[in-house]
Amino acid sequence: MSNIKHLPEPFRIRVVEPIVLKTLEERQAAIKASGMNPFSLRSEDVFIDLLTDSGTGAITNTMLSAGMLGDESYAGSKSYYKLADAVTDIFGYKYTMPTHQGRGAEQLIIPTLIEKRKREKGMTAPISISNWHFDTTQGHTQLNGAEAANVVIDECMDTNVFHPFKGNFDIAKLEAVIEEHGPENVYTIISTITNNSAGGQPVSMANLKAVYEVAQRFDIPVLMDSARFCENAYFIQQREEGFQDWTIGAIIKEMYKYSDMLAMSAKKDALVRIGGLLCVKDDTYLDEFTECRSRCVPMEGFPTYGGLSGQAIEELARGLYDGQDQDYLAYRISQIAYLANELEKAGVPCQTAGGHAVFVDAGRLLPHIPGEQFPAHALACKLYELGGIRAVEIGSLLLGRDRDGVQIKAPMELLRLTVPRMTITKSHCDYIVDAFKDVLDNVHTVKGLRLTYEPTVLRHFTARLEEV
Ligand code: F0G
Repeated sequence: MSNIKHLPEPFRIRVVEPIVLKTLEERQAAIKASGMNPFSLRSEDVFIDLLTDSGTGAITNTMLSAGMLGDESYAGSKSYYKLADAVTDIFGYKYTMPTHQGRGAEQLIIPTLIEKRKREKGMTAPISISNWHFDTTQGHTQLNGAEAANVVIDECMDTNVFHPFKGNFDIAKLEAVIEEHGPENVYTIISTITNNSAGGQPVSMANLKAVYEVAQRFDIPVLMDSARFCENAYFIQQREEGFQDWTIGAIIKEMYKYSDMLAMSAKKDALVRIGGLLCVKDDTYLDEFTECRSRCVPMEGFPTYGGLSGQAIEELARGLYDGQDQDYLAYRISQIAYLANELEKAGVPCQTAGGHAVFVDAGRLLPHIPGEQFPAHALACKLYELGGIRAVEIGSLLLGRDRDGVQIKAPMELLRLTVPRMTITKSHCDYIVDAFKDVLDNVHTVKGLRLTYEPTVLRHFTARLEEV
């Protein structure tokens, strides 16, 4: 038996960026000036920034060196063809378009799918169904006059319950929503891997396959929302019967059989600082790809660069491979699990540890603050004040209001501690746990919040609040 209990970073850190912990008084002044909204803090006032894992990670030396080969030609650059070859090799998809990031792919594909289905199937009330739409995906759905339905399994909504694939679709619910709205109105099914909003929770291979079978039966295209495709593959390898001996690459290839197209924010598992992808498997949806290509020109850029420099495309072509490294993924997922376990031990209730973040259940931690006073956001402000740590609310503040202006009831009030890739170490994690212990010692001083300024869409980014 070895004494080694902890998997250390499987890399050397040879470029560093200093971070500074401001004083308690400075942090108190900063959070007040921000209108009690960590999004409005200056990053230099933040010690450990856990706002997102998007474009915030370290990049590899192989990506950095690949970037030097960037072909900056406006059209038909060598770098583009390298990227397209990587996509075919990794996902088995024939058609590739780079975009500036994930939402760039969404703004091309969502209206395209809607218009096509209106023309061909007489769709009148468009709806997309997902295990869980990410905010921007839902935003594009609504901007195009469509509805968005989430049909995740019930186990996902209880942070006390363990399920190996909490990100899974509830297949019965999926079928019921299709029947209820009429298959002609369902212009796409979006498989989000991992399920970000539910806690970075993976979707099993069996579930992806079952979703695809339902979609084929009703002739509905499946779009894989692919931001965390490597983390999802790793969970399948570790947790799903029959995949233990598969490589990450083989699992990825298999996952993408159960989709027709992919939209990707490459700023997560593909490790780049900026970039996205829109790819189509084969000629079945070639018309859609062709239409997206013409939309791409005015919105993202010529379809062989899609808003990216040749350098960024080279880094992406390399990052798609580097993000699949078995040792890196084992370390990455163990880091998240370590942070979640240590927080739980300290008395902080968390969602089952997932891929990219620890989701603290603020509803359970702060039962004295009702949902309409944004307990997870109040917790974010306190955590910043006491520890200089910036985290992000995934709860009532993010959800916003329905069409009648009534606050939507969030299924969970979560605070996401999003871990940038290969950027913070175990001692940062221990510091985060200690800061939470300080929050627990002061839990009675955490007050609910009310809005003093509220924009109509995506309000959480720029809202201002005050203590009740
Ligand atoms: N889909 C998922 C599942 C995402 O998590 C994101 C972004 C997007 C699409 C949009 O991609 O940002 O490149 O335009 N998520 C980030 C986050 C912002 O913090 O979770 P994007």
